[in-house]
Amino acid sequence: MRNVTSDTITQSFLDYMSDDTDERLQFILTRLAHHLHDFVRETGLTHDEWRKGLELLYNAGDISTPERNEFVLFSDVLGLSSLVDMVNSPDNGTPSSVLGPFHVRGAPDLAFGADMKGDNEGAPTIVGGCVTSTDGTPIEGAVLEIWQTAENGLYSGQDDSQPEFNFYGCMKTGADGRYLFSTVRPAPYTVPEDGPVGELLRATGRHPWRPSHLHFIVTSAEHRTLVTEVFPSDDPYLDEDAVFGVREKLIMEYQERHDPSDLPDELAIKPHIDTPYYVVDFDFVLAPK
Ligand code: BEZ
Ligand code: FE
Repeated sequence: MRNVTSDTITQSFLDYMSDDTDERLQFILTRLAHHLHDFVRETGLTHDEWRKGLELLYNAGDISTPERNEFVLFSDVLGLSSLVDMVNSPDNGTPSSVLGPFHVRGAPDLAFGADMKGDNEGAPTIVGGCVTSTDGTPIEGAVLEIWQTAENGLYSGQDDSQPEFNFYGCMKTGADGRYLFSTVRPAPYTVPEDGPVGELLRATGRHPWRPSHLHFIVTSAEHRTLVTEVFPSDDPYLDEDAVFGVREKLIMEYQERHDPSDLPDELAIKPHIDTPYYVVDFDFVLAPK
């Protein structure tokens, strides 16, 4: 097309695509072009605003490293990451939630009842439950990758004072589908705000806080992998998570307890647990593949 106008540019872009373009790519690009072009027509985007947007993207590239991906963070605070999760999450299992940037592979194996607290400060917390399929059958051999912040709100990779893999672990369920470990209460923390994402949050009067949470990836050969987080019911940021990760079904109660005598004997922390301590029950439901 030669005389391209603001009305014909979208069709013109689409006409440039060859017919043998992969069908899904063609569909995605078609819809993207419609939405992007409509966005400019609808807002009357100015040159300054367009340049500012490109500058944010440039700065996102500039501050990104192999350990820190500012583009993912943009996607998170814009609600994109959570939306992608939601449209891809089966509706009959535990809801998924954002992975976040602090997952690392190679976490140490934990036996049933193992302790992640060790000498770390923090309220002792016993976390346990069952991994089942959507029909209620316990899943044997499901693998739970678990990670969280220390009491100071930092993941071990962000904090030189913590040993590598502090509060990272990997546990396999037994025949009854159960998992059990001890840890400390994680703390609310802020997403990185020293880059362009922080600039966007400040410009829109938003804070960078996330409610405290435990991260889990639950895998099983016959089931869809679940990437999720669980949140305590009394966290002050539950209704204003900077990355939109909270779902009602992912909220759990930290039950305060004072008498450790009725804790399961498999808990390595049992003989020396401080009181009060907290108990958290959370079951994971995986959708079959
Ligand atoms: C996290 O939960 O670790 C996280 C998620 C999104 C952005 C930053 C951190
Ligand atoms: Fe996190």
